[in-house]
Amino acid sequence: MDTLTAIHTRRSVRSYTPEPVSEEEIQTLLEAAMTAPSAGNAQPWTFLVITDPGLLARTPSVNPYAGMAAKAPLAILVCGDLTAEKYPGFWVQDCSAAIQNLLLAARSIGLGSVWTGIHPMEDRVAKAKDLFRLPDHLIPLGLIVIGRPKGEQQHANRFAPEKVRRNIWQD
Ligand SMILES: Cc1cc2nc3c(=O)[nH]c(=O)nc-3n(C[C@H](O)[C@H](O)[C@H](O)COP(=O)(O)O)c2cc1C
Repeated sequence: MDTLTAIHTRRSVRSYTPEPVSEEEIQTLLEAAMTAPSAGNAQPWTFLVITDPGLLARTPSVNPYAGMAAKAPLAILVCGDLTAEKYPGFWVQDCSAAIQNLLLAARSIGLGSVWTGIHPMEDRVAKAKDLFRLPDHLIPLGLIVIGRPKGEQQHANRFAPEKVRRNIWQD
């Protein structure tokens, strides 16, 4: 699948078949994520690969809008590593770029995924740190829930010309 097709047909997928995601597929997702750009090439990210069904079942307790994780074969918790930052504060952008790469890689290999948000909601950060036993320097940004999609992904056309101006904003 070419890059533009993956971008235009990626949608959040919240319903999965029971089929597991293979180790090779997980590797493909992680390699794509870690190829993202980052400020100063600091790569201030870490990835917790979650396949344990008991842990996946408890994951919605972190975020009430992550209920799909309980029936998913895989989730990847993307965390910022504050000890790896070269330019403090950019970790959210760096990790977000990694997440988008991961979502597009999932789409390209026929997997479905959804980004569920954790940081900056302090209660979710605290619950994720506790459930996944994260050290202090790792800040959970998002939990990416992944599986084989039950349905087809639809193209979304969100191009909005009124959101674009040229050269200077106001006359
Ligand atoms: C930072 C962030 C947090 C999100 N959190 C959730 C979430 O907690 N639960 C969920 O089901 N979807 C979540 N989403 C997915 C959005 O709802 C989804 O991307 C949006 O509705 C657009 O739909 P699409 O991804 O199918 O294009 C999140 C997306 C982002 C970028």
